[in-house]
Amino acid sequence: MGWTHRRLAKGLLFWPALLGFAFLGPRSRLCRMGLAGSSGETLSYQDEDYWEQRYKTGDKGANPDRIDDRGIGWLCGYKGPLQETLQAITAGDRSKVILNVGCGLDRLSPEIYADGYTNLLSSDISAHAIAEMQKSTAEDMPMAKWLVDDIMDMSVPSESVDIVVDKGTLDALLIRPQPFSCAAKALREIQRALKVGGIYLMITHGRGDPDAWRLPLLAMPHLSFNVAKTPDMGGFFIFVCTKLPSDSGDAEEAWRKAEEWARERDQEDQEAEFAAIDDVGQ
Ligand SMILES: C[S@@+](CC[C@H](N)C(=O)[O-])C[C@H]1O[C@@H](n2cnc3c(N)ncnc32)[C@H](O)[C@@H]1O
Repeated sequence: MGWTHRRLAKGLLFWPALLGFAFLGPRSRLCRMGLAGSSGETLSYQDEDYWEQRYKTGDKGANPDRIDDRGIGWLCGYKGPLQETLQAITAGDRSKVILNVGCGLDRLSPEIYADGYTNLLSSDISAHAIAEMQKSTAEDMPMAKWLVDDIMDMSVPSESVDIVVDKGTLDALLIRPQPFSCAAKALREIQRALKVGGIYLMITHGRGDPDAWRLPLLAMPHLSFNVAKTPDMGGFFIFVCTKLPSDSGDAEEAWRKAEEWARERDQEDQEAEFAAIDDVGQ
């Protein structure tokens, strides 16, 4: 597949300027999109209940722009690079425990299940999406589990999962307020849920330079991943992150440093955003 392999030394990468640029572009465009909430106010991607509202109403935020999220989903379907990657990392072992975080109404979980991976747990922050998926797949996916869960504070037991699949979910957190702090929490939870040697598959969009705005997140001090990345697969990349055995260092101290790093990046991001707003206003 010609992947770029790189072992990330903790704290090796530090590219605040590039990160600021990378997040500002998509985020400042996206937060202008809004949808009318139940109380009449305008909601945007920045709102906590954005996804619940969107899945309930089919309104994606730029009125009257309606969408049916039951289609192909975000970034890619299962067949092609994603299926090939899953086949390669499981060596065809269909007993692996897979967790699809932020599954939404996408067809990915049904397709993974139909491919024989029946030890499948799918979660999302949206209760509406989970209820709908559970109902619509009850007959075809009897062994599947569905869970309303926040990726930043998961109820999944530690070291219980072989593979975490994330298609566009970290991307979605990165357009929320305090994107770096959100990412730090989500990645901590993913690492916790994975068995040692387990793999986090991050499928992420191809805007900007993913080396510049995803690798620093994966190199935060509290994380211990070996990272490989596909080339551009047609507007998306797959990061294959293998959980390494934890070193004997102080986990709490590593988390404190990660929180501090994320807070500083969030602060820079805010300041850059205010500066951009000021520029527009002048
Ligand atoms: C860009 S969509 C991707 C959906 C689906 N994975 C796909 O590929 O079509 C992002 C998904 O992340 C979910 N999400 C957003 N914030 C979340 C959180 N804090 N915890 C869990 N899921 C979240 C949303 O409800 C939504 O389903």
